[in-house]
Amino acid sequence: MIYHNSPDIKLNTNLGGLSTSATIAIQQLCRQLQRQGKNVYRLGLGQSPFPVPDPVIKTLQENAHQKDYLAVKGLEELRQTLVDYHHRWFDVECGIEDVVVGPGSKELMFILQLVYDGEILLPLPAWVSYSPQARIIGRNVNAIMTYKEENYKITAQQIDTICRLDPNRSRLLILNYPSNPTGQTYSAEELEELAEVLATYKVLVLADEIYARLDFSGDPASIVTYYPEGTIFSGGLSKWCGAGGWRLGIFIVPEKMRWLTDAMATVASETFTSTSAPIQYAAVAAFKENPEIDRYVEKCRNVLATLADEITGQLQKTAVDVLPAQGGFYIFPDFSSYRTKLAEKNILNSAQLCDGILQDTGVAILPGSDFGRDPEELTARLAFVDFDGGKALQQYPEDGVLNREYLLNCCGRTVEAVERLVNWLDAL
Ligand SMILES: Cc1ncc(COP(=O)(O)O)c(C=O)c1O
Repeated sequence: MIYHNSPDIKLNTNLGGLSTSATIAIQQLCRQLQRQGKNVYRLGLGQSPFPVPDPVIKTLQENAHQKDYLAVKGLEELRQTLVDYHHRWFDVECGIEDVVVGPGSKELMFILQLVYDGEILLPLPAWVSYSPQARIIGRNVNAIMTYKEENYKITAQQIDTICRLDPNRSRLLILNYPSNPTGQTYSAEELEELAEVLATYKVLVLADEIYARLDFSGDPASIVTYYPEGTIFSGGLSKWCGAGGWRLGIFIVPEKMRWLTDAMATVASETFTSTSAPIQYAAVAAFKENPEIDRYVEKCRNVLATLADEITGQLQKTAVDVLPAQGGFYIFPDFSSYRTKLAEKNILNSAQLCDGILQDTGVAILPGSDFGRDPEELTARLAFVDFDGGKALQQYPEDGVLNREYLLNCCGRTVEAVERLVNWLDAL
């Protein structure tokens, strides 16, 4: 019997037109091409190249026997550790009931969008999943376009213009910094300015700071500091701790919004129940104050910052327009100045651009259109992570000075990928 052709059984219309998330799809395509024997440079999926730090691995090993379902909001010891973490980083007080642990922050974001009934403000370009999540749930997304001239950041004025039209509407702003896909971040002054206008209109903010510890300054500003009463902090182990596949994300919600936290916990109790127990025990070790972990993060940050400098410098020798990354592992070059030459190769939009680059050079990157940009804008996201992070940490010099030789030795594939891209552009 062919069920999917039955007139009575239909797909939820919210899912119409959605397919596998772009970042997952590029990874699958890369694997397929590699199986065919192609040399593929994986600058598509934004996965940390670094191993999980030793104290965290060790704690996971010691807790492999933990088998019980844990509290829906998360292991108490972990939530207390996160309360302390929040205090240490932002000087903001919260209680363990304000913390929710989930199987990845992505899942928590989905649940948040489900329980919060309001308009979603989404600056573009944005990480690939916010908008599809809203669509699956049936939420309205109000996209806010950002501009390269303003480093792809929203301004307080843009928020004011939107909210002024209907000041009493409930709204949730998704603010991600350092940004995936642009690698840009907000200064303390910019966040303070945004906080002021957001507080005026009581806009709830989801501060997606999953890359915060990879802010190259080592001292990231957070909107939590300026707008604690209206900010949900989102983080996890996936990026700075190299543990994407472990699936652990966290939310810290303002105390005054306990109704929201509890609603999220209700949905969690009916869906994922609780996050993997051994992983939660290991996460305690990751978030506890520990100089060894601080040192690990510092090294990862330094490698990424140096590599970002190298590849941005390479690209800046071409006519590509690219902003230096300020954190995380992405850059978002704009190839517009090659539009005429690209058109001769029948490349008219960002998807065709990335297809062409992959076919001709083996370098996999993702089109700006996957991040909500106009398909004809010739932008793309490049994740500079195709290297062996374990080797990069092992060979990290005592003095922390990472020269070109070190980069070529430890991050050679990424440097080589960008060289290929530069050669491709030069040959256009
Ligand atoms: C900006 C951003 N937010 C959230 C996530 C989700 O992370 P996780 O679900 O692994 O916590 C990602 C992962 O790629 C991301 O890039």
